[in-house]
Amino acid sequence: MQKKEYHQPVLLEEVIEWLAIKPNGVYIDATLGRGGHSREILRRLSEGARLLMIDKDPEAVAFAQRSWDLDQRVQVYQASFAELEDITKASGVYGKVDGLLLDLGVSSPQLDQAERGFSFLKDGPLDMRMDPNRGISAARWLADATERKIAQVIKDYGEERYAKRIAEAIVNTRRREAIMSTVQLATIIKRAHPRWDRHKHPATRTFQAIRIYINQEIEDLKSCLQQSIDVLATSGRLLVISFHSIEDRIVKHFIRRHADEPVALKMLPIIPAAWRPKLKSLSRGIKPTVQAIASNPRSRSAVLRVAEKLL
Ligand SMILES: C[S@@+](CC[C@H](N)C(=O)[O-])C[C@H]1O[C@@H](n2cnc3c(N)ncnc32)[C@H](O)[C@@H]1O
Repeated sequence: MQKKEYHQPVLLEEVIEWLAIKPNGVYIDATLGRGGHSREILRRLSEGARLLMIDKDPEAVAFAQRSWDLDQRVQVYQASFAELEDITKASGVYGKVDGLLLDLGVSSPQLDQAERGFSFLKDGPLDMRMDPNRGISAARWLADATERKIAQVIKDYGEERYAKRIAEAIVNTRRREAIMSTVQLATIIKRAHPRWDRHKHPATRTFQAIRIYINQEIEDLKSCLQQSIDVLATSGRLLVISFHSIEDRIVKHFIRRHADEPVALKMLPIIPAAWRPKLKSLSRGIKPTVQAIASNPRSRSAVLRVAEKLL
């Protein structure tokens, strides 16, 4: 089957503007996908610059290797961005990074290929792993997890009101038959969901929740943000695009926590270096324009936040 390779990058102009690219700088695209942002960053980098590309997905990495094989500025890593510190230390750019971009979630090729198991609209094996060689598939997890755990994941990561009912329906079904395909799961959720929204498939929140859980997306994000401070150079920029409120809250609170001076310290004549704010928030949440959403509906819930390293 012909694989769809294209991903229309979200908030591309805004990312380029806020990265304020230095032609000789060091940059990291930690969510490479199909390189939509990387391609534009590279166009602005001179020969001596560096661009590290990271993705968990072997298909994304293979795409980058095909596309930029001979480009001396590029290094490609199949890894989680939670390994940021190790990757930057190994490549000699720890503490020297001028810009780090995270464009969270899944890419269009991942969603569009039924065999990856992310989509409730296309029937495929219930997998949902960004790296299919690591961890367990969604089908395997749903076969063994307790009803309570399934309900908790759907509630916490999907903010789904009917998490308990859906978990109950999943557990009742699996007593009779194995839940192995995406459409099979979507049908179970649809039957259990009492309220259908005209603009949202009833399985949207549950699929999001299971995907986040299976890929440890929240743990990876928190870990990467924490590491980003020491990885960035002074004045280096952190840009994060989130697609749902759980991620955006984490990013917003992280930036706020490191950008605010503790109130008690404001009374001191000199604040010790270790207690001074490490980041400066450069923007409120930036959203795509109405025109951008019209041409790329997947961007509709995107929010970009930008911070700069101070010390
Ligand atoms: C929204 S897409 C990025 C699209 C990309 N900016 C482009 O324009 O083509 C997100 C990508 O990040 C990858 N990803 C998500 N979480 C990751 C993690 N913890 N570590 C590495 N890659 C991750 C996914 O596999 C996916 O390819």
